[in-house]
Amino acid sequence: MTEIFVARSADMPEGARNTVESEGRQIGVVRAKGKLHAFLNICPHQGGPVCDGLLIHRVEEVIAADKTYQGMRFSETDLHIVCPWHGWEFNVETGRCAGDGKHGLKRFQTVERDGAIYVVI
Ligand code: FES
Repeated sequence: MTEIFVARSADMPEGARNTVESEGRQIGVVRAKGKLHAFLNICPHQGGPVCDGLLIHRVEEVIAADKTYQGMRFSETDLHIVCPWHGWEFNVETGRCAGDGKHGLKRFQTVERDGAIYVVI
């Protein structure tokens, strides 16, 4: 296994991301919810640059106890990355597609050591 330098830790605060290239592959790394997550920058839908997409909390519908619809709100827990080509959303923590869990992003391990971040390929 090989470690590819991503960034200095200080340059990747919460919500920051960076994309590295190795052996013809782009790998996107994001620090979200206090952890580092790395994905192959290829969307399983049609190959879009998913890691370049918007980071946004999942939109959820609010249903009251009497079953009436109360509108929508942003989740306080689930953060998604949205592919810029057609809007497929993926959970940043799991890489699974929000609309169809059988699809997912290819994940890579990350290492943070001595003030630097690496992705392991
Ligand atoms: S290529 Fe990503 S949503 Fe279509």
